[in-house]
Amino acid sequence: MTQTRDLAEFAHDLAREAGALARMRRERGVAIAATKSTLADIVTEADREVEQLIRDRIARERPGDGFLGEESGAEGGTTGLTWVVDPIDGTVNYAYGIPAYAVSIAVVEGDPDPARWRALVGVVHNPAIDETFHATMGGGAFLGERRLAVNAEVGGAGALLATGFGYDPVRRAEQFAVLERVLPLVRDIRRIGAASLDLASVAAGRIDGYYERGLWPWDHAAGAILVTEAGGRVGGLDGAAASRELTIAAPPALYDALEAVLRSPDL
Ligand code: IPD
Ligand code: CA
Repeated sequence: MTQTRDLAEFAHDLAREAGALARMRRERGVAIAATKSTLADIVTEADREVEQLIRDRIARERPGDGFLGEESGAEGGTTGLTWVVDPIDGTVNYAYGIPAYAVSIAVVEGDPDPARWRALVGVVHNPAIDETFHATMGGGAFLGERRLAVNAEVGGAGALLATGFGYDPVRRAEQFAVLERVLPLVRDIRRIGAASLDLASVAAGRIDGYYERGLWPWDHAAGAILVTEAGGRVGGLDGAAASRELTIAAPPALYDALEAVLRSPDL
C-alpha cells in the first residue's frame, strides 16, 4: 500500500508537470508535426516532447519499471510494473485550442496488456482547466480532494452517454451505424474528444456512461481505474476486458443495458 501511495504521488506530480509543459506549448501555438494512421490522426511536437519528459522522469526515479507510451512505444522492465502513458489525449482538441485534452498516466502490474494487467494507479490531468482526476486500486477515485462516484440512477429521459470515433473513415461509417441505433434510446450523446476525459467524466457522474471501439491501451488505462474506483464497471462484451474491440464504462445496471444494445455484428 505504501508503494502504491508513493507511486500515486509520483504519478500525480508527473501528470501535473507534464500538463504544465503541454499548456505552455499550447499557449505559444501548436504545429502539427506528422500524421499517423490517417490524415486526421495527428501528432504535434508537444505530444512527443511531453512524452519524453514523462519517460525521462520515470527512467530517473524508477529505472526498473517498464514503459508503454503512445508516441515512443514500449520498453520492458524488471519490477513487474509498467507506466502506460498518453502524453496528450485529445490531440485534435489540443491542436484546435479546445480546452479538453489530458495527460493520462497509469501504473499497471503484470503483463502490460489490458486483458491481463492489474491497474494500481491512474491519473488524468486536464491542464487547460486545471482538473486532476486520480485513483488507486482499492483507495477510491478523486477529483482533487473530492471523492467521486458514478451516477447510480439514470433518469426517465435516458442516459447521457459519451462516445468517440476512430480516425479511419471505414471504422467511422460502422460507428455511425451503431450511433443510429443508440441515439433514440438515450438522453443525448457527447463527443468530448479525449477518451481519458470521457472515462473521468463517467467516474465523476458528469455523464452516465461511455462506449467506444478502437481505443489503444494508453487511451483507457488511467481512466478505467477512475471508473472502477468510483463504483462503475469497465470492459467489453461478455466479460471481456476493455480492448480495441470495445470499451464500455458505466454504472453496473447501465453497463448491462449498453452491452445489450452494442452486442451486434455490425459494431
Ligand atoms: C483519441 C481520443 C479520442 C478517441 C480516439 C483516441 P488521441 O486519442 O481519445 O477521443 O475517440 O479513439 O485515439 O489521438 O487524441 O491521443
Ligand atoms: Ca495522444
